[in-house]
Amino acid sequence: MKRVFTNWAGSVHIALAIVGLPYGVCTGGYCKAINSRVPSVCTSAFVSSSAMHIKARCSVYPGSDTHRFPVPDDKVSWAADWPEYSPVNYTAPSVLKKPVWADPEIGSFSPQFNSLDGSVDRRSHEGEYTVQDDRPLNPRGRTGLNGRGLLGRWGPNHAADPIVTRWKRDSAGQRVSHAMSKLPVLQFVSIKRKDCGEWAIPGGMVDPGELVSLTLQREFSEEAMNSLQASQQEREKIHERITQLFSAPGFQVYKGYVDDPRNTDNSWMETVAVNFHDEKGDSVSELPLEAGDDAGQVSWFDVDSSQPLYASHSRFLQTVAKERKAHWCVMDQ
Ligand code: BGC
Repeated sequence: MKRVFTNWAGSVHIALAIVGLPYGVCTGGYCKAINSRVPSVCTSAFVSSSAMHIKARCSVYPGSDTHRFPVPDDKVSWAADWPEYSPVNYTAPSVLKKPVWADPEIGSFSPQFNSLDGSVDRRSHEGEYTVQDDRPLNPRGRTGLNGRGLLGRWGPNHAADPIVTRWKRDSAGQRVSHAMSKLPVLQFVSIKRKDCGEWAIPGGMVDPGELVSLTLQREFSEEAMNSLQASQQEREKIHERITQLFSAPGFQVYKGYVDDPRNTDNSWMETVAVNFHDEKGDSVSELPLEAGDDAGQVSWFDVDSSQPLYASHSRFLQTVAKERKAHWCVMDQ
């Protein structure tokens, strides 16, 4: 994920709530809806793929002092007529410096939107998106900001999220069940992101031409096992165990648009989240975790609705818990 992010941990901005707007605060990147439009994590089913974005409308854009033009719920859809709409233009200086992972400005190149453009995949998991005045339009609607913000690509920016799980066990090796829900507790590998300080799934960006299956494995090795720094011998062992676990098909948890605070009217995040489960606890679970690359810390966390996580990651875990008939929240009795 290093290619798309600068450090925005220091930028904590709290702005005033505007009554009636789906206003959010971005604290180091975590964009929380103030007027709780997000359904209760205990009762909701997985967020529908067409849900309205909220974090993508957070007032202050991450890592900047730029305020988005406020977009109320009824004006999110591009279909809603709104002549007064005047989004703020912002592309981060780090993106304008033309790093390898970023596109140039529109006008100075001819991207092939909605297609595989050389090795850059400009297709969306959500289907065909509209291109207006040579700029792709966010398939979920207005965000109050145009340009690319912190994102490198015009249109979809593709990521992949490996959700590695095991059963929580006691010292005798028996599965632990939750005292309230009575359901077995799952654990997943979580990293603390260096860019915003939030706990997250160890995901990252799909490199041009890279298969998503490889991204899933690579990001997990780099961030949770620190494979980039490991000795040749350790690296081989890590590779063998991870390849073994990741060679199983895995359970596809989600594929599509992500309500990410970095999204803009013209650039947005999409991901493929896949669950790889170490049922017996004798595969990846036996390897020591070590934070690497863009991860500050790494740990096995209990899968539980009370754990706040980056972007839509909590939703992904809810789906995993449901699929594996594991504990999610105290009301699951
Ligand atoms: C992260 C993924 C996340 C995606 C969308 C990427 O930067 O590495 O974990 O799902 O952004 O928010």
